[in-house]
Amino acid sequence: MAKYRIAWLPGDGIGVEVLEAAKIVLDRISLDAEYLHGDIGWDFWCREGDAFPARTIELLRNVDAAMFGAITSKPAKAAEAELAPELKGKGLSYRSPIVRMRQLFDLYICLRPCKAYPGNPLNYKEGLDLVVFRENTEDLYAGVEFSPVPEALATALASLSKPFGAFKDLAPGECAISCKINTRKGSERIVRAAFDFARKFGRKKVTLVHKANVVRASDGLFLETARQVAKDYPEIATDEANIDAMTMWLLKNPFNYDVLVAPNLYGDIVSDLCAQMVGGLGFGCSGNIGDKLAVFEPTHGSAPKHAGLYKANPIATILAAKMMLDWLGETAKATALEQATAAVIAEGNVRTYDMGGSSTTLEMAQAIAAKL
Ligand code: IPM
Ligand code: MG
Repeated sequence: MAKYRIAWLPGDGIGVEVLEAAKIVLDRISLDAEYLHGDIGWDFWCREGDAFPARTIELLRNVDAAMFGAITSKPAKAAEAELAPELKGKGLSYRSPIVRMRQLFDLYICLRPCKAYPGNPLNYKEGLDLVVFRENTEDLYAGVEFSPVPEALATALASLSKPFGAFKDLAPGECAISCKINTRKGSERIVRAAFDFARKFGRKKVTLVHKANVVRASDGLFLETARQVAKDYPEIATDEANIDAMTMWLLKNPFNYDVLVAPNLYGDIVSDLCAQMVGGLGFGCSGNIGDKLAVFEPTHGSAPKHAGLYKANPIATILAAKMMLDWLGETAKATALEQATAAVIAEGNVRTYDMGGSSTTLEMAQAIAAKL
């Protein structure tokens, strides 16, 4: 029996190709694992009315970790239009499978390392090495949304909130509400994860990213909780930044930052910026980590236009596989994989189109495998 059971979830679009590439390097490194395919993605929405079928959820309950590619998602009307005829008009609604997965399995840490590998022509600056900790289960992603706003909610808000007065007389359908829900527990555990990481890897500073000057209740709770947690890590510097200013300062003085921690949506935004600073989505890797399960993925989407062309850069996914090896405790293999990837980037002989070259997805994977 293999040492690890890994769920293998290609999804659709270029998700399939980049996972094929990751498999090449994992096989080369002889990870003692059994890979179990899981159905997920747009096809299953169209055919079954569920992009994340129950059998795949069951599979995830019985594995050590998972690799996930990417999934296409479309706005509500377009999604409904592509359903099989017998599924239409049943009130099925599409919700992003990866967001559901994060919540269902309580994968509360979204870890996004953004490192500029030397010689990558896409680096914004050489030497960058930022790590984003994004809260992964709550905030504006809680899924508590109303459009139109039900009468009962409008009445309650009108009596509880003075500012709601400005909206209360709008006709149904003229107003929509998405709740930003942040909890002390959710804030505490993501901030603690960021500081624990900083302590373990000798990082100097953790920046708390928020917008508590305006979003006083929910970001206020996040910030207050974060400051409390920071006290347990006196050897690590802490600073604070509003999300808007953060995006400017990151570009202006990127070397002032080290580890960033943010509520879900700000973390989503700032991690794309950080990924762009080290080469763009072809380099952005991500771990969705809980206490029992972790799911690793490239940050990029399914890029349906590129599907089947084998031109996407697989490095993001290969670095996600490296993160999985770390999480499994296979540190030597993880380090070897990262070094091989760094070597191929530094040499510059094999480059995908985003890096200015014409190598294919699988050629890149093979070049990395050859260094192992
Ligand atoms: C990400 C993506 C997802 C998110 C989408 C695909 C639902 O942007 O992983 O950053 O918003 O979290
Ligand atoms: Mg994102």
